[in-house]
Amino acid sequence: MADSNLSSLALCILPLFMILIFLKFIVRPHPVKIPVKSRHVFITGGSSGIGLALAHQAATEGARVTILALDNLEEAKDYIRLSTGIDVTILKADVCDFEAVKEAVESVGPIDVLVCNQGVIVAQEVENLDVKEIGRIIDVNLVGMFNLVKAALPGMKNRSDRKPVSIAFMSSQGGQVGIYGYTAYSASKFGLRGLAEALQQEVIAADIHVSLIFPPETYTPALAKAKKSMPRLTSTITAFSGAMQANEVAKKAWKGIKSGRFSITCNLEGFFLSIVTAGVSPQRSYLMAFIEVIFAGVVRLGVLCVQWSWYRTIEKFDEVK
Ligand SMILES: NC(=O)c1ccc[n+]([C@@H]2O[C@H](COP(=O)([O-])OP(=O)(O)OC[C@H]3O[C@@H](n4cnc5c(N)ncnc54)[C@H](OP(=O)(O)O)[C@@H]3O)[C@@H](O)[C@H]2O)c1
Repeated sequence: MADSNLSSLALCILPLFMILIFLKFIVRPHPVKIPVKSRHVFITGGSSGIGLALAHQAATEGARVTILALDNLEEAKDYIRLSTGIDVTILKADVCDFEAVKEAVESVGPIDVLVCNQGVIVAQEVENLDVKEIGRIIDVNLVGMFNLVKAALPGMKNRSDRKPVSIAFMSSQGGQVGIYGYTAYSASKFGLRGLAEALQQEVIAADIHVSLIFPPETYTPALAKAKKSMPRLTSTITAFSGAMQANEVAKKAWKGIKSGRFSITCNLEGFFLSIVTAGVSPQRSYLMAFIEVIFAGVVRLGVLCVQWSWYRTIEKFDEVK
């Protein structure tokens, strides 16, 4: 009896073990570590919120940091100097203006870690958004990323030190799932996924590694501003995922960038969403690939229940109206 139990256990475990071994050989790209000490880290939107927390984190770990934004640059520089004793370089440019971005990037020399973090958050139903506002959201959150990559890539490819380098894009949980009121914002963040996946294939030969970061709601000036005009349904639906502090998000993002991870999540909901939305995205870790392969179905069941509750909320809201 004990023998037959043992052999049925082995029969269950053996296929899982074989899948794990298979994944170890096939996951791509290969694992990588991005060194940051004494290297040039360039963070856009580094004057506030998550970007400022990232700049602070990078400076404390001995990186040479440049931040680019529109305003509040001196304040950000002073804040980092006062808390770390380190001076960062500040650049003023609008990411939507390619010539200004190119000039700014060229003025500081080759970049080792480019964190494309700038963004605007607008929560409003598409019917209540005017087309100019939709254009601005797509321009800052998506087209601006292309401008940065186009400006930085030649220097990153021709770097003299041959160590691995990184390009990271700040997406959002709104880039993993479309949410009521985030039509334009989610579209801009979903666009980043296509950019990041295709770019990783284009730059892998140059030892450039792409990351895509998916924070949940984070207490920052951008969120506080968005909350002021946020539809009630958006607030109700997004309440399912707790908000984080900017420095917590920055720590998770920074750790993920240094480990060369493609998908970087910041909390448990983000982790589950990354399993169910893994699709054809690159995966360096065979253990994470194993979790995706084995658990995608059951996590899909969980998120279908979440979708059910969202649609129930929307139906009830319509009834009350
Ligand atoms: N907060 C959240 O709940 C949350 C959640 C998920 C993802 N995110 C993402 O995290 C990123 C940072 O957002 P945050 O919440 O930290 O917002 P934030 O505190 O308002 O910071 C946004 C940064 O982007 C800069 N920026 C905006 N438009 C720009 C432009 N046209 N050119 C250059 N810089 C520009 C801002 O500079 P100025 O202040 O000088 O304009 C600021 O430094 C965004 O991509 C956002 O979508 C945020």
